[in-house]
Amino acid sequence: MSRLDSFIRRMMAQRDVIAAAASLIDGLPGPILELGLGNGRTYHHLRETFPDRRIIAFDRALAAHSASIPPPGDLVLGEIDETARAFAGIGAALVHADIATGTVEGDRRLAGWLPALIRDLLAPGGIAASGSPLELPDLRPLTLPAGVPEGRYFLYRRA
Ligand SMILES: C[S@@+](CC[C@H](N)C(=O)[O-])C[C@H]1O[C@@H](n2cnc3c(N)ncnc32)[C@H](O)[C@@H]1O
Repeated sequence: MSRLDSFIRRMMAQRDVIAAAASLIDGLPGPILELGLGNGRTYHHLRETFPDRRIIAFDRALAAHSASIPPPGDLVLGEIDETARAFAGIGAALVHADIATGTVEGDRRLAGWLPALIRDLLAPGGIAASGSPLELPDLRPLTLPAGVPEGRYFLYRRA
């Protein structure tokens, strides 16, 4: 599969998983956390999907399109494993993470801190949508939306 096809499929999976998450958090209060603002396309989509929720975005540096820059107070810059710890207990309804490194070693390191961090950010019953697996007993895997193959995106509910 070409890298373009792979990218398109991942983005389609991301959109489908966020749509599923919207139903899953219906009625559950709490902000949304976007780990990895990047260009801000996903952040823009989250704002359209969740117009009434606070959305806090994290990245090591601001590189987002001007239409996707969070308001002051909702953009946190720095290494996520350091900055997001200050938000533990915030009771997020949804945490979305698109920060897979694309290397075996990088993803191994990510797996060492990301699952526990996301658990600590989520409210009980909150949803995690991630481009990389989150293996932790407190994060229960959910069935992916139809059309999203296992392993392309990951969806969990915090116990
Ligand atoms: C794949 S991009 C996210 C793309 C985003 N979903 C969008 O719509 O543009 C991943 C982003 O996460 C950031 N990132 C990855 N790991 C990080 C870390 N440990 N701390 C801070 N930022 C990180 C990168 O700087 C990059 O901007």
